[in-house]
Amino acid sequence: MKDKLIIFDTTLRDGEQSPGASMTRDEKVRIGKALERMKVDVIEAGFPAASVGDFEAVQAVANAVKDSTVCGLSRALDKDIDRAGEALNGANSSRIHTFIATSPIHMQMKLKMQPEQVIEYAVKAVKRARRYTDNVEFSPEDAGRSEEDFLCRILEAVIDAGATTLNIPDTVGYSVPQQFGATIANLINRIPNSDKAIFSVHCHNDLGLAVANSLAAVINGARQVECTINGLGERAGNASLEEVVMAVRTRQDVFSCQTSLDTREILTCSKLVSSITGFPVQPNKAIVGANAFAHESGIHQDGVLKNPETYEIMKAEDVGWSANRMVLGKHSGRNAFKSRMTELGHVFNSEEELNDTFYRFKQLADKKHEIFDEDLQALISEVSSDAEEEHIKLIALKVCSETGEIPSSTVTIRIHDEELTGSSEGSGAVDASLKAIESLVKSNATLELYSVNSITNGTDAQGEVTVRLEQKGRIVNGQGADTDIVIASAKAYINAVSKLQTPEQRKHPQKGDV
Ligand code: KIV
Ligand code: ZN
Repeated sequence: MKDKLIIFDTTLRDGEQSPGASMTRDEKVRIGKALERMKVDVIEAGFPAASVGDFEAVQAVANAVKDSTVCGLSRALDKDIDRAGEALNGANSSRIHTFIATSPIHMQMKLKMQPEQVIEYAVKAVKRARRYTDNVEFSPEDAGRSEEDFLCRILEAVIDAGATTLNIPDTVGYSVPQQFGATIANLINRIPNSDKAIFSVHCHNDLGLAVANSLAAVINGARQVECTINGLGERAGNASLEEVVMAVRTRQDVFSCQTSLDTREILTCSKLVSSITGFPVQPNKAIVGANAFAHESGIHQDGVLKNPETYEIMKAEDVGWSANRMVLGKHSGRNAFKSRMTELGHVFNSEEELNDTFYRFKQLADKKHEIFDEDLQALISEVSSDAEEEHIKLIALKVCSETGEIPSSTVTIRIHDEELTGSSEGSGAVDASLKAIESLVKSNATLELYSVNSITNGTDAQGEVTVRLEQKGRIVNGQGADTDIVIASAKAYINAVSKLQTPEQRKHPQKGDV
């Protein structure tokens, strides 16, 4: 029997720390459920002490996810730990992850603490976290630049205090594989009580080495990897979950452990995270990029036709590709629709919600004959965001676009119960429509990102638009999908403006002291 490699996903916490990747509570729950379907072992849902919004999001994920352990991050401070404990109260299985910096530069410049004091804080934090759960993880932040002797001392002390997982973060992405792997082996060998805890790693990608460093650590005894979908995360991101998992699965000759993930869910998760955050996946991204399994050269195509193994080391289906098949159409009935939506993980909360979503599906099927899973996912996004922020709705949109003429757009929206109509010219139909909406909602927000993705193939495919708006330091993403990209753009803009009007403020105190 091989060891189990625990997959700890931090898309909802470290991933969300990517500038512009903030997610609403309901979006976090959707991603949490998708991670649970993929059988991720631990889901780090957020940092409850960071804000009321973060607290509520962790609480909502803890209540919604039943099969994975839900984790909350906290500094080594009583108030953070209590907040995490409270947020995780409803979880079937919970973990508190507490951290304090251990590198000389962080201790001196950021914490202004002596090493002995740092050990005291760490031990106290772990003991307090154990009051809430017997599943406690400790991270010496910036371990990649910490002194090994000091790491041994603090880790030994926190194991004695009750930590069950020791996570070694390469916070600034400074490590290289051979050295990082050796550090993990040394820590396991040198710490006298190391057999009482699981060693984990958390690598950032500043030098493009996050996955390589994580795998080197696994070869040297780490049995948990912290990672994110699509490698999302602070600055250059974290180790990408899909790459770590598929490397371990594909190279079982090298790794003496295996994960229990359902890898066929990888692509769905990747698309969901990309659509919610507005961070596109580059076409040549390993595993989940559009070209990851595409063979362009004639020699490769010929080989693959003769035997796929000539050029393919993994099967595309094993990570969820080729799920892009027609599933439903205009003649599909309510039962077929409901059962496919359920398979995709969507739970209808009422008959009314099912009726409304089925009506939208029929409208879409009238415009587009073949409805793929990706179309249904976009429908779920639309229904979820409507339920969350119903106060602004697109009622009508008319554009005039003609060669040699200035494009113009007239848009009618409903804000609460009032219908408003506005018109504007613009450099194109999309620009004119967004300006017309802005003339009505007056958000004064700055457009930071506008991106269009085709959800499936063909000119009748739905375009999925992501709009990122910034208002007084607050950043939100809005999504919209439609077979007409001007309408998709208007929906995305309205979705983003609606989010700006909700009070959820985000900040991340781990960037501050302690
Ligand atoms: O990168 C890091 O050090 C972190 C810790 C909180 C684990 O994200
Ligand atoms: Zn991190």
